[in-house]
Amino acid sequence: MFFPQFRARRIRGSEIFRRMVRETSLSVNDLIYPMFSAFGNGPRKEISSMPGIYQQSIADIVVEAREVYALGIPAVILFGIPETKDAVGSDAYSDTGIIQETIRALKKEVPGLAVITDVCMCEYTDHGHCGIIKDGDVDNDATLELLAKEALSHVQAGADMVAPSDMMDGRVAAIREILDDNGYDAIPIMSYAVKYASGYYGPFREAADSTPQFGDRRSYQMDPANRLEALREAAADIEEGADIIMVKPGLPYLDILRDLRNDYNLPLAVYNVSGEYSMIKAAALNGWIDEERVVMETMLGFKRAGADIIITYHAKDVARWLKK
Ligand code: PBG
Ligand code: ZN
Repeated sequence: MFFPQFRARRIRGSEIFRRMVRETSLSVNDLIYPMFSAFGNGPRKEISSMPGIYQQSIADIVVEAREVYALGIPAVILFGIPETKDAVGSDAYSDTGIIQETIRALKKEVPGLAVITDVCMCEYTDHGHCGIIKDGDVDNDATLELLAKEALSHVQAGADMVAPSDMMDGRVAAIREILDDNGYDAIPIMSYAVKYASGYYGPFREAADSTPQFGDRRSYQMDPANRLEALREAAADIEEGADIIMVKPGLPYLDILRDLRNDYNLPLAVYNVSGEYSMIKAAALNGWIDEERVVMETMLGFKRAGADIIITYHAKDVARWLKK
């Protein structure tokens, strides 16, 4: 009769031993909560494909931000839905733009909460692309100037960190330079360094009202088939001065997260995007999965793959579950 020498179950049999040998942990400090700030004073509007997530007025953003802060979540990342959009995304870099006003309100009312801003043009352009258009495609270098102006204007309004998500070449350097030239050398840049052209952004585009009006984002976002290119993108952004690098989406790209963790030693973020949230929510609302278990397992998966920071629409629930 054969008896195994190695019995993995010895240290698995009781919670006290499981606790002692647990390799990965999740903390409220790891979380960033995304919020959608909409122009005007209207009632908050739930995003149909993202139950529990709202487009809301600045006053309502402040109310929810107090709750986020009370839960111990260190930071929010803001997206804006402006009153008007145009070809050059003017609201993005206007001192009285939707995000600039939201930042000022948050820094006044909830000063302890870190405010990170998404730096991109797609929420502000009438064509819905992440930059300005020339000959039917996004003009990289002309867009860089606007992104730099946008980042500076967010920081002037009080943003604690900026997060460019546009995927133009050279944006981290352009933003670093304008911030430094204006005395903001202490403001960090969290770069969406590895951002794939993904179907998982669908619900977000409803939330941010930013669906491209023609074509798609494949000329600037990455091809999901590519792994080595992700390493080049990360290297370029680090070289240009990124303080934190991000992989986005999360679940289909855990291998990339692990690659970056192995190759680099700066803080690594993952964006658990809208479509990932919608899938869990939909299944949970149907009673098909246990939401808390599946969400917590997902968060742990990001940490195990190498993420330090998780941007997630589940952040408030995760913070509550961690307290239990
Ligand atoms: C803007 C931006 C997008 C997301 C974050 N910043 C959408 C896109 O690139 O189309 C997606 C976030 C999500 O799906 O939750 N460029
Ligand atoms: Zn964009």
